[in-house]
Amino acid sequence: MSPGGSLALLILGILAFVGLIYWFLKSKINKFVEALLAYKRKITDVEQAAENSTTRTPTADRETHFGYETVTESEKQDRVAGVFSSVAESYDKMNDFMSLGIHRLWKDHFVSSLNPGATTPLGQPQRVLDVAGGTGDIAFRILHHSHIHNGNPNIHITISDINPDMLAVGKQRSLDLPASYQSNLSFLEANAEVLPSQIKDNSLDLYTVSFGIRNFSNIPAALREAHRVLKPGGVFACLEFSKVDQYPLLNAIYKRWSFSAIPLIGQLVAADRDSYQYLVESIERFPSQEAFRDMIVDAGFEVSGDGYENLTGGIAAIHKGIKPL
Ligand SMILES: C[S@@+](CC[C@H](N)C(=O)[O-])C[C@H]1O[C@@H](n2cnc3c(N)ncnc32)[C@H](O)[C@@H]1O
Repeated sequence: MSPGGSLALLILGILAFVGLIYWFLKSKINKFVEALLAYKRKITDVEQAAENSTTRTPTADRETHFGYETVTESEKQDRVAGVFSSVAESYDKMNDFMSLGIHRLWKDHFVSSLNPGATTPLGQPQRVLDVAGGTGDIAFRILHHSHIHNGNPNIHITISDINPDMLAVGKQRSLDLPASYQSNLSFLEANAEVLPSQIKDNSLDLYTVSFGIRNFSNIPAALREAHRVLKPGGVFACLEFSKVDQYPLLNAIYKRWSFSAIPLIGQLVAADRDSYQYLVESIERFPSQEAFRDMIVDAGFEVSGDGYENLTGGIAAIHKGIKPL
């Protein structure tokens, strides 16, 4: 073979060898890249699952408070259920004793300030969800206000509560309402932190929660649910015990009353000191007006002004938020 021919053969051989190496490496590199991508997908799935477990499965083994005790969220849910099953029958009577009847004035003011039934969008009933509605105090006032003050029977309210014993008392009480009110009312056993899918996204005009939210295991989850189910422009409204820090003398009297008298009244009237001790401690643990307002804003609501109104020096407070349009 001529030197030129040998050189050409050598170059051809080198090219073939390089091509073979390239082909071999390419399939390995592809496999390596695929393995890297699969690993990344797996990590993303694990992160997503972790995120879901905090946003969609609120009741878990994270820590929270049951009165002054630190417990897991699921344990709190069980123990709160125990408290309200235990107090259901005496709940209304005890409210009057504990607050000297003032809870009625707060509830009247809460409902008047919402003015339910004032406007009815295009013939549709105004849709209201009273969460942790218990024995029906807020829902019944809402119906009364809409029917009597606004002359508007075109309203529908669902009383939802996690506790069947509280709902049973509410159902029993509702039988004394006028038939026209009863036809505007339904009951739903539900956890406010994971409302059932039958309550659709963007479906409600008004969401109320009265003296309930401090008992929830995961308040941010409940606020996110409120935001999900309200229509744009819909109103979140909460009545809850709060802080009296601005008035030291009133605060001192109130604390003395709460911690001495209320558990004692619980023992004497309802034979249940522990449940009422929990109720007092849960009030103490609930965030300040400002901190709770910030939680409402974090859930996506708009607030106007301070975002809250103090009642009786801050013993209770009304917080409102509007879902942006
Ligand atoms: C103090 S009662 C308030 C009842 C009524 N809203 C009122 O103002 O008189 C608190 C209610 O919150 C309910 N509750 C506690 N945790 C709840 C949850 N995660 N979801 C729904 N309701 C809950 C209890 O079962 C109880 O009926």
